Amino acid sequence: MPKLRASTFATTLSAALLLIIGMSVTHAETAAINVAKTPTCGCCTAWIEHLEANGFEVAAYDVSHEQLNAIKAELDIDPSLTSCHTAMVDGYFIEGHVPASDIEQLLSDRPDARGLTVPGMPIGSPGMEMGDQRDPFETLLVHDGRETTVFNRHNQ
Ligand code: CU
Ligand code: CU
Repeated sequence: MPKLRASTFATTLSAALLLIIGMSVTHAETAAINVAKTPTCGCCTAWIEHLEANGFEVAAYDVSHEQLNAIKAELDIDPSLTSCHTAMVDGYFIEGHVPASDIEQLLSDRPDARGLTVPGMPIGSPGMEMGDQRDPFETLLVHDGRETTVFNRHNQ
């Protein structure tokens, strides 16, 4: 492993990145989800509660916006596909308000892909509830490179 000065390390590859990627490998058998989010993100917390209500073991890490952007960049998530939080489960990234049922399907199907994303923050996705409003949204499967296909449609 190349030796990095502490200052370089702190400003480029954050410790949080190593945590969420590294620990997701450690916990592969239990399918623990490691979530990186900013400290004041309310919808992130609501999404985490949705995962826990569906039986997932979640470890959440508060990071700065810069660290969160570094994580998304390191995972090569196209900016057009990003949302408020970035998670790792069993080698896959989970970006944004992806329903727990989609994550369960991902872990049972185990497609040859890099991760799932719900870009933006659709109203009516898990953690983005606002009264009765349920906007249609798609969960996208992100393949090698940045190509995507529709994994599931919701609120149709
Ligand atoms: Cu959000
Ligand atoms: Cu979030």
